[in-house]
Amino acid sequence: MRWRSPNCPVLLFLFFFLLCILSAGRVSGFRICSYNVQNFNVNKAANYRTLHTLTRVLSRCDISLLQHVVDTEGKAIKSLVSALNRGTDRYDEYVYQSVSSRSLGTSASDMQQYVFIYRTQTVNVTGQHQHESQLQFVRAPFVVQFQSDKTTIKDFILVPLHSDPTQAVQEIDWLYEVFVEVSEKWNNTNVMFLGDFHASCAYVTRSDRKNIRLFTDSSFSWLIGDRVDTTVTDATSCAYDRIVVHGQPFLKAIEPFSAQVFNLAKEFKLSKTAVVKVSDHFPVEVMLKSSALLLQATPLLLLLAVSVIGWCCPEL
Ligand SMILES: *[C@@H]1O[C@H](CO)[C@@H](O)[C@H](O)[C@H]1NC(C)=O
Ligand SMILES: *[C@@H]1O[C@H](CO)[C@@H](O)[C@H](O)[C@H]1NC(C)=O
Repeated sequence: MRWRSPNCPVLLFLFFFLLCILSAGRVSGFRICSYNVQNFNVNKAANYRTLHTLTRVLSRCDISLLQHVVDTEGKAIKSLVSALNRGTDRYDEYVYQSVSSRSLGTSASDMQQYVFIYRTQTVNVTGQHQHESQLQFVRAPFVVQFQSDKTTIKDFILVPLHSDPTQAVQEIDWLYEVFVEVSEKWNNTNVMFLGDFHASCAYVTRSDRKNIRLFTDSSFSWLIGDRVDTTVTDATSCAYDRIVVHGQPFLKAIEPFSAQVFNLAKEFKLSKTAVVKVSDHFPVEVMLKSSALLLQATPLLLLLAVSVIGWCCPEL
């Protein structure tokens, strides 16, 4: 290979340097996670391995929604948040906080909370709202509005749902009422629904969809597909856990194809037995586009770099 210009190696170096900066920027995108932590209580929080695994999962996320938390006194969540803030991982300089719903349920033996854990450096909580209605949600959504200057969307609302499996179809459909309520309350239609909807297998079938407004109204986009398996055990393959967003502005603020299940068995090289001790569900997650100037300019910079190289080393 002959160099036509003596500056070519320098330009090539600059090009790859630029690529490195850009890909580093990508890594620091904004991640929202949802995890059914299956009866997370003080006993579970006292198990060192479980707490450690949970900390590894949650420290990847700017916002995590936990479902099936059983912690009326707040002690389990306190242990979890202090584990996150202990900063044993030297790359994680974040400070985490949490907001919890009250205990929700229809039977004293099964009361559960929704808990949001978030990074104080990347996002602010700007509103909280417990849905109270005549509809018979077993665990009515505890809705939180967030604001972040790190994302292109800025202000968005997260609506959690851990549905009751026996009435999953009705509860998912009722999310529409919650959407109307909170979007009017905060004058904001950037709404994301997330959680263990039981939206798969026997609980929600293909023919049930006509009775679910989040399916029939095309302004809602289901980001976790029907073929995804959000369960840990090999015995089941069901897309119970979902992420749904409302409207084009929110859809455009999401990194394409970033919604996925986080298989911690594979990612952390853990046995299924160890993973099941944390939960029988895997987390699901999605990335929001970063508002960083460099990232917005990515296509332009790449085009520039390629044309500079093409111009100075045409034989490359
Ligand atoms: C959180 O709110 C404060 C006060 O309005 C603001 O200065 C800060 O930039 C916000 N943080 C983020 C990450 O948006
Ligand atoms: C609601 O938001 C829209 C834009 O998002 C704005 O034009 C309108 O003035 C807002 N309405 C109220 C009552 O704040």
